[in-house]
Order: sequence, then C-alpha cells, then structure tokens
Amino acid sequence: MKILLLNGPNLQLLGTREPGIYGSDTLASITGEVQSCGRELGCEVVARQSNIEGELVTWIGDSRQEGFDGIILNAAAYTHTSVALRDAIKAVGLPVVEVHLSNTASREEFRHHSFIAPVCLGVIAGFGKDSYLLALRALYSRLSREK
Ligand code: DQA
Repeated sequence: MKILLLNGPNLQLLGTREPGIYGSDTLASITGEVQSCGRELGCEVVARQSNIEGELVTWIGDSRQEGFDGIILNAAAYTHTSVALRDAIKAVGLPVVEVHLSNTASREEFRHHSFIAPVCLGVIAGFGKDSYLLALRALYSRLSREK
C-alpha cells in the first residue's frame, strides 16, 4: 500500500510557527513518525510539502497514475479557500483524509468552513501530530477492507 502525505502552505515552518497552536514538532519529525508508523503497518508513506496551490493540485491529480492508494492532506489555509483542491480530489477519486493539527472549529470563523471536507473520507483535527497518525490508521483500515 502506498500513501501520499501532502502538506500545504506554511507547514514547513512547524516547530517555530505559533507553537501554542501548532506544537513544537517540526514537519520533518512529524513526517518521520508517520513514515515509521506506515512501515509498522506495511505501507509506504511518501511526503511532500508545498506553498503553491497549483503544485498541490498537480500532485493530487497525478497521484493515481503514480500508484498511490490514498492521500492524507493538510491543505492548511487552502482548506478554507480552494475550489481547485476540492475539484482535484473529486477528479482523482482516491480516498483522502483531511487533517489539521489544530481544532479549526474552535478557532476563527473563517477556519470553520472547509471546501475539501465534503469530498474527503473524513476529517481529523485538533490532536496535533496525532491527527496525522490517526489519519494514517483510518486510511489504512479503510483501504485494507477494500482490498
Ligand atoms: C491548519 C489549520 C488551518 O486553518 C491553517 O491555515 C493552517 C494549519 C492546521 O493544521 O491546524 O495553516 O491546517
């Protein structure tokens, strides 16, 4: 099983970015934990980060052809703005789990709406780096049932 882990804008700054909200783990350390959990489960996790919406759209669009079975996506601020990401998820038709480190529902009003949630399998938010680990387990369990 091959999983694509995508992180959107500003998440390369994790570790120093508003640690009170996002925690003090770096993106590299979170990625390492998700990949090692993936190895335990027997799946390969390929991680990419971009600040560019179009790059994320292209990666999602190409993911099926690249042999991925599913996607874990923290679209960061694009969650609340991007019709293009939503269309890419719908177009590719792979299962996607939306993740957030913070509980977006308890933050500013503009973070309450997600353009991508309706086309995702589900949303995991508010558990810091554990949101990613929970997403991996949820996606793995869904994909294993389908195989
Ligand atoms: C975030 C929440 C978003 O609202 C915000 O724009 C981010 C990070 C999170 O992981 O909590 O950049 O996706």
